[in-house]
Amino acid sequence: MKFDPASSIQDLRQFGEYGDVNPSITDSATYTFMQAKTMADTFHGEAEGCFLYSRHWNPSNKYLADAMAAMEGSEAGWVTGSGMGAITTALLQICQAGDHIISGLTIYGGSFAFLQNWLPRFNISVTFVNITDLDAVKAAIRPNTKVIYTETMTNPMLQISDIPALAAISNAHQIKLVVDNTFTPMIVAPIRLGAHVVVYSLTKFVNGKNDCVAGAICGTRDFIGELIDVNNGTAMLLGPVLDPMRSSGILKNMHTLHIRMKQHSHNAMYLATKFVESGISIQYPGLPAHKGHETLKKMMDQQFGFGGMIAIDLCTADQASKLMEKMEIEDVGYLAVSLGYFKTLFSNSGKSTSSEVPEEIQREMGLSEGMVRFSVGLDNDIDRTWEKIYKSLKATGCV
Ligand SMILES: Cc1ncc(COP(=O)(O)O)c(C=O)c1O
Repeated sequence: MKFDPASSIQDLRQFGEYGDVNPSITDSATYTFMQAKTMADTFHGEAEGCFLYSRHWNPSNKYLADAMAAMEGSEAGWVTGSGMGAITTALLQICQAGDHIISGLTIYGGSFAFLQNWLPRFNISVTFVNITDLDAVKAAIRPNTKVIYTETMTNPMLQISDIPALAAISNAHQIKLVVDNTFTPMIVAPIRLGAHVVVYSLTKFVNGKNDCVAGAICGTRDFIGELIDVNNGTAMLLGPVLDPMRSSGILKNMHTLHIRMKQHSHNAMYLATKFVESGISIQYPGLPAHKGHETLKKMMDQQFGFGGMIAIDLCTADQASKLMEKMEIEDVGYLAVSLGYFKTLFSNSGKSTSSEVPEEIQREMGLSEGMVRFSVGLDNDIDRTWEKIYKSLKATGCV
């Protein structure tokens, strides 16, 4: 039977202790045991279904983690207090001092800063490559390489990583392929394409309400077990746990994710086509001219479309600022960082979410100072939105 992430979520039987259709929220840091031995067994990871302490596991987080695993087709999941919590925890679990990571160059600025500035403090080195150049990836492998790290659709350049090809390279060298799938939930299921670990910022599309930050790690049961091991687990010992109140809200929002992804993708494709017709330089993986179009088509579940992210290039930062200010006045959406919200958000990546990336590297990755990244919202009448964007483009001399 064909894998369908939305049906996998729908089929979860998760209800509360009184038959509540939404699981009850666990409002406890600790849990009682009727027998001392069961507590000891739980500490050693030997008692199924028992909860010990909420930094380790709590039922609300378990429901959300199970829903993430169902969506990804992974054996297990664990949820974190932010996307960065997921990325850093997963990488620090796999890598020791002296290890080496190969990473895509065009990734979220925070992830770039962690890899470039923070990990070297612990003697973990990183080589950044163009992740779409598989020869460059292979050439960067060293005897101590432990991880290839990438984003399925990269932030902000919207490059597409060839996950099956990267998985083949990883497997040939006993390297773990860790993929951030934040931009493409449901559209791509990296674990099913060979990735070993998938990380998410749930802050974005998965939650979709912009009311909290959260993250998730999906992988094998063994890997998730290692993360929460009381003696050595990075998640257990660094403690990036998600608040159960929040996980309860995110879980409910996951049940509408499939509808939202379709609408984000539909609206983004519409705007992308209009930008092309207006002669604006644009990146959208749904356009046949996009370099990663065929790669994404090969990997994606077509019913969810090509995603809600587009990037246009207005050449100068000044032009980008003028357009964004005008679009905010015209109610296109908000000049704000982040993505996956029901309203359209736009920002100049080079001056915001990629500002951690030094300017010379921004140019190397092809990030123009005039790039405006759009996270296209759920607008019911996208042509009406396009009219507002076009009016803003004209008023600021961009067309
Ligand atoms: C692709 C990607 N991964 C991870 C993150 C970090 O997530 P969070 O802000 O939830 O820590 C972001 C944030 O913008 C992102 O765009």
